Amino acid sequence: MIIDLPTAVDFIKKGDVVAFPTETVYGLGADAFNIYAIKKTYELKGRPSDNPLIVHVSSISQTEKITKNLPDRFYKLAKHFWPGPLTLIVEKDSSVPDQVTGGLKTVAIRMPDHPVALQLIQQTGPLTAPSANKSGKPSPTKSEHLLQDYGESLPILDGGSTSIGLESTILDLTTDAPEILRPGSISHEEISKVLKVEVTAFQEKRASDSEPVKSPGTKYTHYSPDAEVKWLSKIPNSLEINALYVVHSQNQYPDSKNILSYNGNFTELAKDLYDIFRTADHQHYEKIYIEELPEQHEDRLIPALINRISKACKK
Ligand code: TXA
Ligand code: MG
Repeated sequence: MIIDLPTAVDFIKKGDVVAFPTETVYGLGADAFNIYAIKKTYELKGRPSDNPLIVHVSSISQTEKITKNLPDRFYKLAKHFWPGPLTLIVEKDSSVPDQVTGGLKTVAIRMPDHPVALQLIQQTGPLTAPSANKSGKPSPTKSEHLLQDYGESLPILDGGSTSIGLESTILDLTTDAPEILRPGSISHEEISKVLKVEVTAFQEKRASDSEPVKSPGTKYTHYSPDAEVKWLSKIPNSLEINALYVVHSQNQYPDSKNILSYNGNFTELAKDLYDIFRTADHQHYEKIYIEELPEQHEDRLIPALINRISKACKK
């Protein structure tokens, strides 16, 4: 059900959950101080309750009210990257319910760079918002995806397609060396430059290691379409009929409806990725082959793309 901003504000204040657009993906917003609304969020998403939520704010003063001992690094990064796709993990204040953080003493915070999201949060106060997909589905990047997952029952603030298409970069600021827990469109180089300290890059292997994961969400399977997703080093001469091919190198490809060519445009690929996964399922493709991505320094989106596509490859 598509609703307008004043209705969304009313719904949130009543303890309902409302989907809203951000620059990354749609979020499932709820009043961060209402434990019943938080509980509803987990139920709606079908998400395990030990997987904490990001609190979305529209100002630094909102952040100061829900955190403790904000380090200088927080202010430097917020000044430079907020509003924007950077989530910062800091110490939480006792005003944030344990249900938001899955019992952790830290809280994830970000200020989204989207006028609708900011107007909403200005009127409701801080909102918890996981990506609005049902657990195990690709994150929604347009309102059609929300209708696919929830039907007409979910109130939606429609903001069109999201501009980035991949979830925010998550940076842990509670350790001596800040560490990227989830790669996003803001790269570890950009963050290191602003902080003037070396930031630990995301280690792709960590999620499958036996050591405890720092970002609880990384241990769950996400982003998997029904079709089997596979990396491909080169497009074969004869294509499989039931497979969709996603390529990015600047070659001439045969004109075929099952080849999606991105010509080196990783921004566009990131924006479309989750829609490709969903559309492939609707069109009953059995496989999605994605051309292997080049070295990380070629484009700042590459670590995030590798991370999301690799997750989709694991069933
Ligand atoms: O772009 C985004 O970040 C989107 C939009 C809606 O803002 N939100 C999003 O939320 O991706 P979600 O819930 O799908 O992913 C949040 C991730 C999870 O992997 C969770 O485990 C991690 O953040 N997280 C949340 N709180 C944390 C904390 N205190 N410490 C470590 N990781 C945390
Ligand atoms: Mg998510």
